Amino acid sequence: MRLPPHIGEGITQTLIMRTKRLLPALALALMPANVIAAPAAPPPPPGVAACTGCHPKSGGDAAIPQLAGHSADDIIAAMKAFRSGTRPATVMDRIAKGFSDDEIRVIAAWYAAQK
Ligand code: HEC
Repeated sequence: MRLPPHIGEGITQTLIMRTKRLLPALALALMPANVIAAPAAPPPPPGVAACTGCHPKSGGDAAIPQLAGHSADDIIAAMKAFRSGTRPATVMDRIAKGFSDDEIRVIAAWYAAQK
């Protein structure tokens, strides 16, 4: 059966209006799922990019160990010892000199939180 054109239009209009009214509710309903599905790991803070070229994400060796999973205190202590020259180094003494206490703290905290 064919509906007279004006009735068909009315139904279409009503459907469009209902859908429009539902959209915000739909968006709200979907939002928490999106937030939950977002990757859990926060992006690395600036500065970490200066470490990943040498220190591998996992594994590493005696010469250049991985940093992820080391305690923040250990990383901070090592960086400060490199910087002051009390810990012998091939390159870390020079690298550590480029970082302030605050930057080292942020980088160390990030590495400590990595698995
Ligand atoms: C050019 C390569 C290179 C870069 C870049 C580099 N490292 Fe290193 N890192 C080394 C090497 C090599 C050692 C071993 C000590 C040495 O010979 O200097 C080391 C050792 C360390 C250690 C001691 C680890 C342990 O368990 O004994 C820490 C902590 C460390 N680096 C932190 C960092 C941080 C933080 C950054 C970024 C800001 C960084 N490194 C960037 C090469 C690098």
